[in-house]
Amino acid sequence: MAKKRVVSGMRPTGKLHLGHYFGVLKNWLNLQEEYSPIFFVADWHALSTKYDEGLNLNQLSLELVKEWLAVGISPEKSLIFRQSDVKEHAELYLILNMITPISWLERNPTYKETLAQPEYKEKNNAGFLTYPVLQTADIILYDGEIVPIGEDQRPHLELAREIVRRFHFLFKREIFVEPQELLTETPRLPGVDGRKMSKSYNNAIYLDDTPEEIWNKVRRAVTDPQRIRKSDPGNPEVCIVYQYHKIVTPDEEREEIAQLCRQGKIGCVECKKRCASNIEKIVGTIRERKREISDEEVENLLSQGGERARELASKKMEEVNRLIFH
Ligand code: TRP
Ligand code: SF4
Repeated sequence: MAKKRVVSGMRPTGKLHLGHYFGVLKNWLNLQEEYSPIFFVADWHALSTKYDEGLNLNQLSLELVKEWLAVGISPEKSLIFRQSDVKEHAELYLILNMITPISWLERNPTYKETLAQPEYKEKNNAGFLTYPVLQTADIILYDGEIVPIGEDQRPHLELAREIVRRFHFLFKREIFVEPQELLTETPRLPGVDGRKMSKSYNNAIYLDDTPEEIWNKVRRAVTDPQRIRKSDPGNPEVCIVYQYHKIVTPDEEREEIAQLCRQGKIGCVECKKRCASNIEKIVGTIRERKREISDEEVENLLSQGGERARELASKKMEEVNRLIFH
């Protein structure tokens, strides 16, 4: 039986943090061992919400791919490219836009929520409304069957399936695959202050943070608020530091820390130091590996990946164009 086709993308909008690593990239790494996935930089998608922010999309894309490589995504196992290098995404997007009712797009919860934020009202652009149409093109161009995504992207996959079914109905031939989402099981990692990890709160630990930056963030992480003195028994389950221990600290050490905390035998500063040092064990490796990757290496890899992607995509577009126009 042929391996299922896995397709996913990420927008190049800034540095990746621990939440991305444990929520998305770990998943990608596992998939990479089993399938030959397609992972691409969704640079057109980045424009759809941030076209007026003067992003340096080339630099952001190179940085993003460096971080993928640094965590172990490999061009030998995965097809890595940049969306804007494969014009077939735009071509299919155009055709899908012709058959997608605006009402379907206006119903999309991600669209409604973003639009409800006052800062977005003013830049309500057509490309943002049709974001899921481009995402559909990204996937079905490669017969993507499995799409690893976060919970927030679920409505987009539902729309993708609806658009595929409509295409098949209108053009009377089933040339696409209906993609299925693969949700990440890891619960969302909070920022050190307990709020959502976000650049604007300065509460995220980035994959290229230095040991000092890591410590400065872990140091001010929120602990069990009932615990004032070291001898007070604590509850690790309500502590943000412990949530980090759960993902970065080996089971045995973590159990020990939980016990010491409950018995009031470890101070929060000591506990945070151990947490920061375990974070550094992961981030340090990624940071150093990222530093060794040159822009040129990434450019070469993207140019080769783009070529391979165009071969696949152009075959599919020939089929689409034959069906509609000939
Ligand atoms: N919308 C996705 C996100 O913000 C990125 C994306 C673009 C994507 N195209 C895709 C994900 C295709 C999966 C498949 O996370
Ligand atoms: Fe949190 Fe550790 Fe302090 Fe317990 S000892 S409250 S787990 S920081």
